[in-house]
Amino acid sequence: MNLPNLNQAKIRTNKKPATINAKNIKSTKYQGKKFFLKTYGCQMNVHDSEEIKRILINLGFNETTNYEDADLIALNTCAIRENAHDKVFGFLGRVKHLKKAKPDLIVCVGGCMSELDSVANTLKEKYPFVDIVFGTHNINDLGRLILEHEDKQEIEVYSNEGDIYENIEYERDSKYSAWVNIMYGCDKFCTYCIVPYTRGKQRSRKMADILKEIEELKQAGYQEVTMLGQNVNAYGKDLAENYDFATLLENVAKIGIPRIRFVTSHPWDFTDEMIDIIAKYENIMPYIHLPLQSGSSKILRLMGRRYTKEEYLTLFHKIKERIPNVSITTDIIVGFPNETDEDFNETLDVVNTCQFDGAFTFIYSPREGTPAAKIKDTIPMNIKEERLQKLNKVINDYSLMHNQEYLGKTVKVLVTGPSEKGENMVCGYTETMKLVNIKNACEDIGKIIDVKITDAKSFSLDGEKEIFINN
Ligand code: SAH
Ligand code: SF4
Ligand code: F3S
Repeated sequence: MNLPNLNQAKIRTNKKPATINAKNIKSTKYQGKKFFLKTYGCQMNVHDSEEIKRILINLGFNETTNYEDADLIALNTCAIRENAHDKVFGFLGRVKHLKKAKPDLIVCVGGCMSELDSVANTLKEKYPFVDIVFGTHNINDLGRLILEHEDKQEIEVYSNEGDIYENIEYERDSKYSAWVNIMYGCDKFCTYCIVPYTRGKQRSRKMADILKEIEELKQAGYQEVTMLGQNVNAYGKDLAENYDFATLLENVAKIGIPRIRFVTSHPWDFTDEMIDIIAKYENIMPYIHLPLQSGSSKILRLMGRRYTKEEYLTLFHKIKERIPNVSITTDIIVGFPNETDEDFNETLDVVNTCQFDGAFTFIYSPREGTPAAKIKDTIPMNIKEERLQKLNKVINDYSLMHNQEYLGKTVKVLVTGPSEKGENMVCGYTETMKLVNIKNACEDIGKIIDVKITDAKSFSLDGEKEIFINN
């Protein structure tokens, strides 16, 4: 048994991460058995789940979307806010009953929640029916843990700085759009955030390894890659090599894959060179997710964000000026400890100035072990909720305003799959990352097509495939 330790998780040394060749264990032990995998959290977790799926398939399992049918249930969890915990423990309550009826069921819990001392201890004491608990640093070992698993609970979670795995096999969710990790971990330690503790230190993959992976995805017919990292634009800062995110972006663009995206950019690491490269290459999509968090410089300082309101605005305007047609979305936290009405109004001011294309908004959630969780907070929850509602209203109005600018226009859409909006409809994304539901394009999944926009809502567009008639 190896339990996590948050005090250890925050230590940063000069030790270079090791590059480890992924194991990719194959076995027929679970041939004919089914697994159910549920993923919470960010794109990083979604991509980790593609690794978990491949590990399970390599042991003989097939996927089921009904957990009651499963022989193995795996949860890939998120620790970013308390409500993420509630969902996981709620689901585990249902699994407990299932396990009574089906004692051979294997239950695995991994992801960021497993990295927390409190969660690992709760699983140990109150959820003994969970068979395997693994963390973010040893996903690649899941195959071995399952094969070696006996009747007793096995907790194997590490709180080290982490290494870099290469040659990981993935069962990718899409044949057209792929996630590519360019780095792991985070060294920013924003005072409210648990990620640097759950994901270890910033570790950039070598550029050659990333380029090789993207080259192979292009050969396999992928139309789009999204480069992933908690701070993609801090890429390379931890390497001795003389390259950075701008260099990487340019080299990826030259591979010629039709669409390149990246998340998440930190305002502090955004250089002019990056802006120039994004503007220069047509296959780098004009879409940037640029978390603001707060519009008050006082709160930003308490959050440890390393920029002021003015610096954010300067960067925002520079990006808007230099990249034609760019769309910018953001993340905002309301109710950081002792945020006053004035602080919140400053956030609204920035939102009104930037008129973001969209935003993810959250009420601050104290995370045990982070510096902000120690601050005594005097703002009642109902005030925080009111602020969130007020903010969301403004955010949604701007999203709708931007979406309405598309009415009657023809735009390029990468069709990713069937739409939830109706039979015979598919959906996809514009270059600027707007979701479009499309009529008359069922044969076009996986293609980039011209779509005429016929309707605009706050969170999506409707459109029809544009058919050009040659005469
Ligand atoms: N690495 C990214 C985002 C990571 S988490 C970045 O730095 O932008 C995604 C978002 O969750 C954050 O941008 C933040 O807005 C929100 N978040 C993180 N910790 C939070 C907390 N303790 N309470 C509420 N929201 C939080
Ligand atoms: Fe969290 Fe800040 Fe790192 Fe983003 S940059 S993952 S918010 S610590
Ligand atoms: Fe959640 Fe971990 Fe991502 S805490 S947001 S799954 S890095």
